[in-house]
Amino acid sequence: MTPRWIAAACVVLGWLLLCGWAWRGVRRRQAQALAARQGVDASPSQDAMLVAYASQTGYAEALAAQTADALRAGGLTVWVAALGQLDVARLAGYRRILFVASTYGEGDPPDAAAAFAEHAMQTRTAPAAPREAAQSIGLAICAASPQPDAHAPLAGVQYAVLALGDRDYRHFCGFGHRLDDWLHDQGATPLFDLVEVDGGDPAALRHWQHHLGLLAGRSDLPDWQAPAYESWRLARREWLNPGSQGGPCYLLTLTPPDTGMCAWQAGDIAEIGPRRERGGPLQPHREYSIASLPADGVLQLLVRQMRSADGGLGLGSGWLTGIAQPGDDIALRVRSNRNFHAPQDDRPLILVGNGTGLAGLRALIKARRMAGHRRNWLVFGERNAAHDGFCRDEIEAWHRDGTLARVDTVYSRDQAERRYVQHCLLEQAERVKAWVDDGAAIYVCGSLQGMAGGVDAALRQMLGDAPLQTMLHDGRYRRDVY
Ligand SMILES: Cc1cc2nc3c(=O)[nH]c(=O)nc-3n(C[C@H](O)[C@H](O)[C@H](O)COP(=O)(O)OP(=O)(O)OC[C@H]3O[C@@H](n4cnc5c(N)ncnc54)[C@H](O)[C@@H]3O)c2cc1C
Ligand SMILES: Cc1cc2nc3c(=O)[nH]c(=O)nc-3n(C[C@H](O)[C@H](O)[C@H](O)COP(=O)(O)O)c2cc1C
Repeated sequence: MTPRWIAAACVVLGWLLLCGWAWRGVRRRQAQALAARQGVDASPSQDAMLVAYASQTGYAEALAAQTADALRAGGLTVWVAALGQLDVARLAGYRRILFVASTYGEGDPPDAAAAFAEHAMQTRTAPAAPREAAQSIGLAICAASPQPDAHAPLAGVQYAVLALGDRDYRHFCGFGHRLDDWLHDQGATPLFDLVEVDGGDPAALRHWQHHLGLLAGRSDLPDWQAPAYESWRLARREWLNPGSQGGPCYLLTLTPPDTGMCAWQAGDIAEIGPRRERGGPLQPHREYSIASLPADGVLQLLVRQMRSADGGLGLGSGWLTGIAQPGDDIALRVRSNRNFHAPQDDRPLILVGNGTGLAGLRALIKARRMAGHRRNWLVFGERNAAHDGFCRDEIEAWHRDGTLARVDTVYSRDQAERRYVQHCLLEQAERVKAWVDDGAAIYVCGSLQGMAGGVDAALRQMLGDAPLQTMLHDGRYRRDVY
């Protein structure tokens, strides 16, 4: 070998070693970031800050991650954890904790935080001194704040709450406020007043970021931008229920943007930027469960057209099912919804839903099929078999090829008395118990009104309150209801 060849080989070898070293560094940093995000081994530490989130459909979790990133930009060590993974002792190990919490139902916590709310938050100490508005001055608390009881469980902890909600609900930010009150009663001291966010209001988020800037010692933190929409093409729209007594329901097929297919998992949500007319400005987003997998090459949605009493089209559903036409561009972004991702193992899965809830269940069944996990039982409800058998051919094919071990379809109006999915579950209580004893998880998708409550009551009757609560806590009972 000539010296020139030897020199060239050395350069290539050096380059490969450098790449390997850099790659290991990247992997290590990725692993650290993931661990920090998931709160893995988040051993309490006085120096580190904790960002705890309570999220049902992923928005609070996403904002918790952004909060942590903003604080890290100021050089702070920050852990992120779901509230459901924490207890009072763990909280007490941190000096500063930021909470990002959404609200569901009648001012309730998200499912994954239900056990925390039920157990930890039931422990009330003697109410702390009455509150005065906290005024953040950098990291210090306004000297006028009442002195907390030094023996209270969370004395010495400073906290703030970002409460997510929607003013259309009666108990606006109800859980965030409950959490705030409870923290106060436990002797924790507010860093600044609770920040309420109505439907992702950018002004409220800027207010929160302002406080993060003070905590991080940075005045130059960039404003949070909502993730950018991408332009998907509405390729096809099939009317699934002509002649139905219910509102028209459509299967929409969207083809990817020019930038290529983005990644998502079964259970994730598409946020759509609707327009009031073709070419008009984008309106506040609406959420739809994704009904397909990236492997399908298209993104599909099942959308029910909504109308007000005066016949006006609903903003999001009207845009998708009436105003936009095949060939039009649809502004869409995908939001991760970890709470509704498929189990990673091959445990049995009971999938329960009604109406457009089939969307989320369909994506899950497809994911299970791809993974070769075949112990799946679908219980699906609609109004009439003659008109509302959404995706019937596909479901029957999955039943025939063993993807679905069992299928029950329940049509509420095909007989004199109303019959719903919860009745079907109750009739098969022994089978439900046997599946649960075998390790099954239960996933529920569809209507909050009627269905979710009815299914919950039926499961409590069959399995018992405490065992179902444990399943909720362990992620074996998951809901994506709206
Ligand atoms: C996590 C999640 C997943 C979802 N997945 C799906 C899904 O897969 N498929 C699906 O179809 N939906 C889904 N939804 C519901 C969806 O996001 C929308 O809420 C739904 O499409 C209605 O929105 P809209 O903009 O069409 O109606 P809006 O304009 O928001 O109106 C809401 C309701 O109020 C009525 N209304 C509107 N204006 C008036 C008025 N002036 N006076 C009286 N009444 C009025 C409308 O008719 C409608 O019934 C999901 C929701 C969530 C939170
Ligand atoms: C079924 C359902 C029930 C809700 N109930 C309430 C409520 O009672 N009070 C409230 O302020 N917001 C309520 N919201 C709004 C959510 O709190 C809000 O959309 C929040 O941003 C969701 O965050 P997440 O994705 O982290 O769960 C509800 C939303 C849904 C879909």
